[in-house]
Amino acid sequence: MARKIKVGTLISGGGTNLQAIIDACKENRISADIVFTGSDTPAVKGLERAETAGIDTFVVDYARIIQSCRSGIADTDLPADFDLDDIMAKQKLVDPSDETAAFFLKSRAIAEKQLLDYILSYDMDLLVLAGFMRVFTPYFIDRINTVPGKHRIMNIHPALLPAFPGTDGYGDTFRYGCKVGGCTVHFIDYGEDTGPIIGQKAFEIEDADTLDDVKRKGLAKEWELYPACIQKFAELL
Ligand code: GAR
Repeated sequence: MARKIKVGTLISGGGTNLQAIIDACKENRISADIVFTGSDTPAVKGLERAETAGIDTFVVDYARIIQSCRSGIADTDLPADFDLDDIMAKQKLVDPSDETAAFFLKSRAIAEKQLLDYILSYDMDLLVLAGFMRVFTPYFIDRINTVPGKHRIMNIHPALLPAFPGTDGYGDTFRYGCKVGGCTVHFIDYGEDTGPIIGQKAFEIEDADTLDDVKRKGLAKEWELYPACIQKFAELL
């Protein structure tokens, strides 16, 4: 059995993937312990799940931060080590010529700095995004992935990447008329849902299936896939 790795988790909502990982850790099915659960949204069910399991929690309220940025971002609001040119050049999330690009990157980096203040206070081997519905700028990624060439931020996506990136993987799969759906665990990079794939699971979509059926089948696969990918990481560390 691999040594137990320390896993930080980030969520935005119900946290059923988080629960699957909590259970896998508790039942020693994977060599991991969860050291914290952070959320970009207050009072979500996933935070309750973490608290019930005795895991430290914190919230960085993205919606409130972005709203307050709309009234203006002063240089002093930005992290002291924020370099817009560097981040704009590296990122693959927004079109640099778009007039909202700088606002997007600055407002996210302000939120990311608050996340980093929590996250970096923990000893952590791997950061697991378990239904975290925000993308990260290079400002955040570079401060977690500090060893060149070593990824340590994992994400689960509700589609068979590289098909259907974005915020509604199962919906996009279903509306396209696909006969097979699936989920993907991958490391994140500077793009949206583009990093190296660690594992995938597929399921059949029957003609009579509704979108709810697709989501139900998909989530059941996610709960198997995510712990297995974390275990793979633990064994390779
Ligand atoms: C899951 O289906 C996950 O794949 C998806 O959100 C859901 C979270 O469910 N993640 C994304 O779409 C990330 N872009 P959960 O909160 O019950 O784990």
